[in-house]
Amino acid sequence: MRQSSLVVVANRLPVDDSVAPDGACEWRRSPGGLVSALHPILQHTPATWVGWTGGIDSAPALPDIDGVRMHTVALSENEVREHYEGFANATLWPLYHDAVEQPVYHRRWWESYQRVNQRFAEAAAEAAEPGAVVWVQDYHLQLVPGMLRAMRPDLRIGFFLHVPFPPPELFMQLPRRAELLLGMLGADLVGFQRAQAAHNFAQLCTKVLNVPATDRRIAVEDRVVRIGAFPVSIDMAEMEALAGSTDVVARAKQLRKDLGDPQHVILSVDRMDYTKGIEHRLKAYSELLADGHIKVRDTVMVQVVVPSRERVEQYQVLRDRVEREVGRINGEFGRVGEPAIHYLNQPFDRAELAALYRAADIMVVTPLRDGMNLVAKEYVAARVDHGGALVLSEFAGAAAELTQAYLVNPHDLDGLKLTLMHAKEAGPVDVSSRMIAMREHLRSHDIQAWARSYITALDRTGSLTAQLT
Ligand code: G6P
Repeated sequence: MRQSSLVVVANRLPVDDSVAPDGACEWRRSPGGLVSALHPILQHTPATWVGWTGGIDSAPALPDIDGVRMHTVALSENEVREHYEGFANATLWPLYHDAVEQPVYHRRWWESYQRVNQRFAEAAAEAAEPGAVVWVQDYHLQLVPGMLRAMRPDLRIGFFLHVPFPPPELFMQLPRRAELLLGMLGADLVGFQRAQAAHNFAQLCTKVLNVPATDRRIAVEDRVVRIGAFPVSIDMAEMEALAGSTDVVARAKQLRKDLGDPQHVILSVDRMDYTKGIEHRLKAYSELLADGHIKVRDTVMVQVVVPSRERVEQYQVLRDRVEREVGRINGEFGRVGEPAIHYLNQPFDRAELAALYRAADIMVVTPLRDGMNLVAKEYVAARVDHGGALVLSEFAGAAAELTQAYLVNPHDLDGLKLTLMHAKEAGPVDVSSRMIAMREHLRSHDIQAWARSYITALDRTGSLTAQLT
């Protein structure tokens, strides 16, 4: 097998399968995301991506994507249940998101998590040439850096957590907390979305492992691990080009027409996830309708919810609750041909999303906790016309950067209602000056800048370790 000088390791490969006109299965690069982030770096470096296709027991030979080799890791039915749906998405995911749903602990899930992490580490070790850089992504693979270092001490290893890292009082619940911290400390650089997360991690390393730690460096045996915040972003240029295209502009116009040419279009786009605050938002909207502050004919709400992790119980329960509430609101406030909420529970393609962003006067993003929230950033990127108001939860990582959004605490129902009304009634000068400022920020903090800053910091860890030892 050919080896690479850069290996990205992520639970998912950057591909989607689709069915070709002749009925065959085709694999395409999934839009946006990490591949675009790494594109400039990958163009000059032979790279491999290690990941899972999302299927069961399947390890198809995939074509290169933009010159990057795809190295598939297969998961069995049991591993999908226990590693992906279990430990990753029913233990770590809720715990890391402020335990807004109760995390579930099962000992056998942990065994599966270890086994799958070992498989990813072995695949990365196989794909990496001597001295290569290996960049491990997210909470599914927290043990990989440590396992990889044990096999391949020659590698430069990075780890980046896309989700929040919780405060000690929550993380301490984890039965295998020491192993998880040690796994991450196998990296030379551990990156987080926000400085607070790096601080939580440093505190936990001292508390659980008794190692000297600051918010920038942690000493582990004879090594120094660097930690820091690297807020992830989006491919601004790609979204701007898409949202500015004539097709998308025409589609946005058509969408407004199909919605009955209302004065205000309010949009929300989320994965179906209990962290996203969908129910809080629906409640606020329903009260505004009941109070008469919003009239169905003048204002239309579009709620897109992309299906996600559908076999996990908490996600099924959430979907039922959301759909019952949407039904109730439409039943109570809708009219024939004029629903109060247009509810779409289906995957969306990028062009249609861009058209929705262009059609929406107000974008409402109200997670109870979110590592970053790239939908908020995408909306800003799409508004090449400088229009559109962004209502954004203080508990999304994006709020630290998009400070000109209409910021809101989604738990404060009255505050949420007031902020929605404020955004709805804002004058065009207020709206556009906020949008211009947010766009300015994203222009210099796009996904390419994110990848560059992380890889540069990872490169520097070699000299840092040399200086300190
Ligand atoms: C979050 C995670 C990603 C994950 C994505 C979609 O953004 O940080 O690692 O890929 O959700 O979830 P899924 O379970 O479909 O991979």
